Amino acid sequence: MLKRIAVMTSGGDAPGMNACVRGVVRYGLAAGVSISGIRRGFAGLMLNDIVDMDSRSVGGIIRQGGTFLMSARAPEFATEEGQKRAIETLAAWGIEGVVVIGGDGSLHGAQALHERGVPVVGVPASIDNDIGLTEMAIGVDTALNTILDAMDKIKDTASAHQRAFLIEVMGRRHGYLALMAGVAGGAETIILPNTEVDLDAIGRDVRSAFLRGKPHYIMIVAEGARIKTGEPVTETIARAITDVGHEPRITVLGHVQRGGSPSAFDRLLGTRFGSAAAERLIAGESGAMTCLQADRIVTCDIKEALNTPPHLREDILQLVKPLSL
Ligand code: F6P
Repeated sequence: MLKRIAVMTSGGDAPGMNACVRGVVRYGLAAGVSISGIRRGFAGLMLNDIVDMDSRSVGGIIRQGGTFLMSARAPEFATEEGQKRAIETLAAWGIEGVVVIGGDGSLHGAQALHERGVPVVGVPASIDNDIGLTEMAIGVDTALNTILDAMDKIKDTASAHQRAFLIEVMGRRHGYLALMAGVAGGAETIILPNTEVDLDAIGRDVRSAFLRGKPHYIMIVAEGARIKTGEPVTETIARAITDVGHEPRITVLGHVQRGGSPSAFDRLLGTRFGSAAAERLIAGESGAMTCLQADRIVTCDIKEALNTPPHLREDILQLVKPLSL
């Protein structure tokens, strides 16, 4: 059994990360283990930015967005020098294992530590929901609700003017947020990454929607969507819609989607993932990632998760067209 473990949040922050840190700290303390908090992710680890944690250090954070341990993107950690420094820091603090909470890049960092002999358990946290093998990552549900709130408001003003709107949501390589927000918020159409954009078909669809008496035309565009010509997708689609006589408005939701108090789902998921990660790490597991599968928390191999493309629900995708009638 390990005697001292550490926890860090890394990469893009996600609502529910604090609940997860709290889960790691309180579960670990209850199991008799000492806990350190690594501030600013791998960047802080390389710079020896570490604090001791007790039960009170995580009091009141379950309802807070962001991450009180702070986060960073740390490309230097990919270097030999960066990883050596990190391992020296862990040894100096007597830290025998680390819980890494973060997205794709952070889990690659976790895998690198594991391959260098440091026990590590990863926890998927990214509003993009782009990590394989887990049905949900921390932060996704809250971001989805933030998008829905914005969509509802945009629909009010769109309907007042019979207008078309393009709403750009986050998701660099995966269209989970665009698809789920589109269906849950009643969008007329959705543009996902890695799908072909047919500008003429979009023009026809907008005209037909208004001819059918729709008060608005809402299109959700995933940030990572591209047009073959390489032009910016949202502006290009907006021009095509203007060409058929319905000049649209564009709203880029941006980092608003990453903030806010975590939803009940994200607080529970963070708490369950954090507790499970501490339990498995203390018991000697390494190179593992917590996953949500059929409402159970299991662990899988981090490397396998990183090599598994995230799943986009084809059955939900099929609903978009009929439900926009
Ligand atoms: O990975 C999460 C994410 O929010 C993406 O959806 C987005 O493309 C990216 O992070 C933005 O990163 P940054 O905050 O570093 O600009």
